[in-house]
Amino acid sequence: MLRLAILVLVLLIWEDILGNRGCMGNKATAVARFSPGMKPKCHVKARCEIYPRSQIKRFPVPDDKVPWTTNFSEYKPVDYTADSILKRPVYADPDIRTEKDSPPLTFNGCDGKINRVSHMGKYEIVDGVPRNPQGRTGLKGRGQLGRWGPNHAADPVVTRWKMDESGKTLNGSDGRPVLQFVSVQRRDNHQWAIPGGMVDAGEVVTATVRREFGEEALNSMEMSPEEKKRLEKELDQLFSTGREIYRGYVDDPRNTDNAWMETVAFNFHDEDNSCFGKIKLCAGDDAMNVQWMDLSGSLDLYASHIDFLAEVAKNHNASW
Ligand code: BGC
Repeated sequence: MLRLAILVLVLLIWEDILGNRGCMGNKATAVARFSPGMKPKCHVKARCEIYPRSQIKRFPVPDDKVPWTTNFSEYKPVDYTADSILKRPVYADPDIRTEKDSPPLTFNGCDGKINRVSHMGKYEIVDGVPRNPQGRTGLKGRGQLGRWGPNHAADPVVTRWKMDESGKTLNGSDGRPVLQFVSVQRRDNHQWAIPGGMVDAGEVVTATVRREFGEEALNSMEMSPEEKKRLEKELDQLFSTGREIYRGYVDDPRNTDNAWMETVAFNFHDEDNSCFGKIKLCAGDDAMNVQWMDLSGSLDLYASHIDFLAEVAKNHNASW
């Protein structure tokens, strides 16, 4: 019995290490873990009629035909991988279906520095390629995504209370205090979103959220080395505490039957505005605009970002 308990403990610790480290990185700053009650719903955006940045129409998949376990004999998903991906930018895999002499990829595991482990558990490999764990999308291949299987991202939800000039917290129509979060407008589709981004090979997710926040919401890529140093110090305080609010599949319009987005989202909260008073928001990299936005259930945001915010509002007992 004791041996079994020790084995389970070792397995749990190992999963935790893999999840936070990616495949080669060192575990970064300790983050208060929170067991999220959120489960991914039946994907909707991943079945959008026209595939993003293309004229490609997905094969229509009704709600009841999404699960692979449901028979759907007429199903003929369109095969599409964007030319930009087939040209093999650094983050893209080879087309393993046609380039038969390319070295095999290690799915459900670490492939050198590339983390191909899903936060959703073990995914199936069918006809040599990974199968989307959330079901059919109406499109096979990789679309705009570089990796077969999970494509890992990380999202920082940076929040503060909405206050008037005298520092008094403002309430929403439901009588609860209003939270604000840093939101960026994406350059690719002009939608407002959390300033997240892709985890680089070998990078730890806690480093990704910090880097992406700097690049997209503070324009750190354009800063001088001295300015960057100062910024790093200021961010240390904010990013030293964080709460994981979600880890798993994202209902992203770029998802396909064989490639999909997953993320780890963290909430970094500035309770008394002591940290953000000093920092000036400035859009950069993939973001065209940045602003403090009031959290509310009526926002129309990219992918399933609204679900992460709902969790944050609940945790802080904020207006929604
Ligand atoms: C975005 C993340 C998002 C992920 C999944 C990435 O491109 O930068 O914010 O969570 O895609 O939609």
